[in-house]
Amino acid sequence: MAFSLSRIRCSALKDLEKNNHLLSYCIQHSTPLPSPVVQALERTVNMFGEKLVSSVQVLQMNRMLLKLIGGKKVLDIGTYTGISALNSALAIPDSGKVYTFEKSKKHLEIARNNIKDFKMESKIVFSCGEALQGLEKLLASGYSESFDFSFIDADKANYPVYFDLSMDLLRPGGVIAIDNTLYKGLIETEDKTGKRIDKANKHFINSRCKEVVLLNIGDGYSIAIKE
Ligand SMILES: C[S@@+](CC[C@H](N)C(=O)[O-])C[C@H]1O[C@@H](n2cnc3c(N)ncnc32)[C@H](O)[C@@H]1O
Repeated sequence: MAFSLSRIRCSALKDLEKNNHLLSYCIQHSTPLPSPVVQALERTVNMFGEKLVSSVQVLQMNRMLLKLIGGKKVLDIGTYTGISALNSALAIPDSGKVYTFEKSKKHLEIARNNIKDFKMESKIVFSCGEALQGLEKLLASGYSESFDFSFIDADKANYPVYFDLSMDLLRPGGVIAIDNTLYKGLIETEDKTGKRIDKANKHFINSRCKEVVLLNIGDGYSIAIKE
């Protein structure tokens, strides 16, 4: 089938997505990301390259899940330049809130500017510092079982802990999405990060969640439902 990459509406595709025609076809035949998200992606890729940005399909899946569950309150673990937070903020109702966690002051400053530029400040709560502490603080402040959705996308060593804290903070039926769960296909190799991800994947499947599925999109994306 004739296929033109130039027809893809989002120009901020990661290399993997640009070079895989089937994947590009999937993106082209899925609802495009909102323009502010595409702009924030492009800005980030222009400034820092594509290494840390989430793939387009992962961001589309987050939106789809939020809409399916009627999500209003979101945890976003690993802010970076604010793309996933902005993406979630635009997928939830005006009364909703995204709580995003980031330890790098530099990343947070860029994220705050992006969010301000796209006028989403009222829907995003920034937490500066270790995500672990930020999440524990929410629990201690009476936020348990109050969130609908959690997107885990920070340091891989803490994925199991972020998962357990998200489970505590999510309402029953809430959803956790976890990025990079195939980590470049290195999960069953000697790669240090791959080993961490493999350990985390085993933790998810043996956890108290209702169901978990690991999908081969982006560089791996897992979805779990809280009992
Ligand atoms: C892959 S990026 C997040 C990308 C973002 N979710 C997006 O979709 O654009 C991971 C981010 O997590 C942050 N991070 C890493 N370890 C952290 C920790 N222990 N606590 C808080 N943030 C952390 C990094 O500084 C980085 O900005």
